[in-house]
Amino acid sequence: MPRGLFITLEGLDGSGKTTQIKRLAAWLGKRGIQPVVTRQPGGTTIGDRIREILLDSRSTGLAPMTEMALMFGDRAQAIAEVIQPALDAGKIVVCDRFTDSTEAYQGGGRELGSAIVLELHRVLCGDLHPDLTILLLPSFDASLARARHRNTRVEQQTGKNEDRFEQEQDAFHRRVWEKYREIAVREPDRVVLIEGDLTIDEIHEQIIEAVAERILLAEIARASVVSSSAT
Ligand code: TMP
Repeated sequence: MPRGLFITLEGLDGSGKTTQIKRLAAWLGKRGIQPVVTRQPGGTTIGDRIREILLDSRSTGLAPMTEMALMFGDRAQAIAEVIQPALDAGKIVVCDRFTDSTEAYQGGGRELGSAIVLELHRVLCGDLHPDLTILLLPSFDASLARARHRNTRVEQQTGKNEDRFEQEQDAFHRRVWEKYREIAVREPDRVVLIEGDLTIDEIHEQIIEAVAERILLAEIARASVVSSSAT
């Protein structure tokens, strides 16, 4: 069975990932492809419980190492329960955040460094890497303002408090931003960086261009496996 395609979206809070994931899923759906859409932290029953601990601003005193361990606990569960089975079934998986978030937020923001994140990823996540990562980096000030506003609205509407990270100082988010850029420079083949204050439509166009290219490459790779096994 050929492996499916693993796509992740990354960015600061308020970078517009959620909107873009919905648009991407709709675009794929119109082409007869039903992606498995999931998010981290969350996306499984256990993961949703871990998400509550991690994002609720009443979770005070969470040590940075505990925070990172919980992120990986959530991820290991999501890989076992959702991501790997879907990839094994040849599906396209679209995941809102993955290990780049841990590298950016815990490695960069909390200053734990990249090395420990990458090592934990190797051990706990079977070193599973996305085929394509879309990194949205609109201007720093705009994303932060949007994220803080959105969380106030979500809390008013649902009573859910998910702003533990947004309450961090700007310097924390700056470090997250820098680490994301570092990842993009380090892994240009995997990470497609979409920068600047573009419109939702413009960002969508760039995303589908990158996704269409990867789907095509995956199809070519599959066709060549089939033809070589037939000879
Ligand atoms: P979101 O689901 O609304 O994007 O929020 C998830 C928050 O959790 C966001 O502030 C980023 C943070 N986060 C980490 O700090 N590390 C991680 O590994 C992940 C997946 C998320």
